[in-house]
Amino acid sequence: MTHKILVIHGPNLNMLGKREPATYGPATLADINEALARHGQTRDAVVTAFQSNIEGEIIEKIQQAFGEYDGLIINPAAYTHTSIGIRDAVLLLDMPVVEVHLSNIHKREAFRRHSYLSDVVTGQIVGFGMQGYLLALDAVLHILKHTLKKS
Ligand code: DQA
Repeated sequence: MTHKILVIHGPNLNMLGKREPATYGPATLADINEALARHGQTRDAVVTAFQSNIEGEIIEKIQQAFGEYDGLIINPAAYTHTSIGIRDAVLLLDMPVVEVHLSNIHKREAFRRHSYLSDVVTGQIVGFGMQGYLLALDAVLHILKHTLKKS
């Protein structure tokens, strides 16, 4: 069975490659999306990627995922630490949701240690750079295959 997986990238992640490469690595967003699409192809999954710098657009995309996708991978970037709106949208979904951060947010400034999503997602993968997205895809597909629910 082919699974449809949505990947949402939050603000400033369109600048990956140029943006603080010592923290976020050399890969561009296109590199990450291509790697996800290829990884999905080998695992019978279709991966659709979306990026926005605008909180409301991210919320709308999460709402659209309802009934349309089987799983969600999300790096809300800075909105991780601020957005109750994104948290509430994620709560709408009855599907596996994995929160990804390229950097290890727990090793950085104190304000990055708190995520408004961490207690409403299936799990969090942090600190593995772009590899984290591929691990997240494997995790979502594993859950779907074994038909476990979000919580
Ligand atoms: C990030 C971590 C956030 O704290 C930061 O605001 C980002 C990227 C990460 O992937 O490591 O923009 O989500």
